[in-house]
Amino acid sequence: MKLRNYQDKDEAAVVDLWQRADLMQNPLKDARKDIAFCLDGGHGEILVLEDKGEIVATAMLGQDGHRGWVYYVAVDPDRQGQDLGRRIMREAEDRLKAAGVPKVHLMVRGSNTQAVGFYQRLGYKVEPVTLLSHRLDGVALPVGHQMDDGPVIVTYLEMLARGSLPHIVPKARRFALMGAPDITVGFYRYLYDAVGRPWYWTDRKKLSEGDLTAIIQHEAVEVYVLYVGGVPAGFFELDARAMPTIELAYFGIMPDFIGLALGPYLLSQALDMMWQREPDRVIVNTCTLDHPKALPMYQRFGFNPYRQEEVPAPWQDADNTLDFV
Ligand SMILES: CC(C)(COP(=O)(O)OP(=O)(O)OC[C@H]1O[C@@H](n2cnc3c(N)ncnc32)[C@H](O)[C@@H]1OP(=O)(O)O)[C@@H](O)C(=O)NCCC(=O)NCCS
Repeated sequence: MKLRNYQDKDEAAVVDLWQRADLMQNPLKDARKDIAFCLDGGHGEILVLEDKGEIVATAMLGQDGHRGWVYYVAVDPDRQGQDLGRRIMREAEDRLKAAGVPKVHLMVRGSNTQAVGFYQRLGYKVEPVTLLSHRLDGVALPVGHQMDDGPVIVTYLEMLARGSLPHIVPKARRFALMGAPDITVGFYRYLYDAVGRPWYWTDRKKLSEGDLTAIIQHEAVEVYVLYVGGVPAGFFELDARAMPTIELAYFGIMPDFIGLALGPYLLSQALDMMWQREPDRVIVNTCTLDHPKALPMYQRFGFNPYRQEEVPAPWQDADNTLDFV
């Protein structure tokens, strides 16, 4: 077994190990960028423990002129409990000590209680401090959400008869709602990303151009785009392929236009259009990653929840192309 510094050729194996060790749950984390930033700027180093050509453990370490820090401590899940974590941590500590660092700090995700036990066994203590953070790169988690390991709950709602719709006047001038019967894949993808990115919409991103075209240009599928001051501000998509049920398949306002009462306006328009097609039932679903006001808004407009389902979070779904940053 060999303890050595990370080399460029290790990248794929190291990223794979971090994924398997469950260190990549936060979608704002970008392993390759973190590796490059650590090494290129001379901020720190990455240790790898190699056994018969396989990387079985890692640790990233550095110091900020005051304290030493350790990140990305991971042991191959098949090799945990064999003292490898202790071994790589001891080497990290020895290197920091040799650099004159008097104390090592490290952070453990709140839900990762097993790692705390490991570090305590190695002599670390839980400090009575509050960790504060502030992103300087403008990247943000969705409004109202904290990244954690909690399950994502999808709520399915239905409406079986047309209710009276409130008359809503948006707090925006020069707005227009237009159907886009010949919507192009490029424009659709733009709308979907611009509206859905803060809420982790990913399903349509997985579709090929052909598969997506077949849906959005289907005669029973309609996309309506809301424009404010001449620019797209939101959209909704009605799916009547399963008539007499119509689904409000996608619905949302772009981040720059949230807070102008456009959501309720757009929803009342969508409902009006759906009921004009005389369905027996109108359905929609929303999940706990959506804007916290989405579910109460659907209920206020007359939708009733009929089922809830727990699904993996987008960042736990191996099929997803995660491009949230
Ligand atoms: C946490 C992790 C690095 C520990 O590595 P490991 O190789 O399994 O641990 P080791 O075999 O070196 O264990 C060293 C000591 O810690 C103890 N230990 C390990 N995991 C423990 C746990 N969950 N609770 C209490 N003690 C633990 C071991 O029993 C051993 O103690 P011993 O002196 O009695 O033998 C590894 O489990 C891992 O990669 N987890 C997933 C990634 C992760 O959570 N990393 C930490 C991010 S902050």
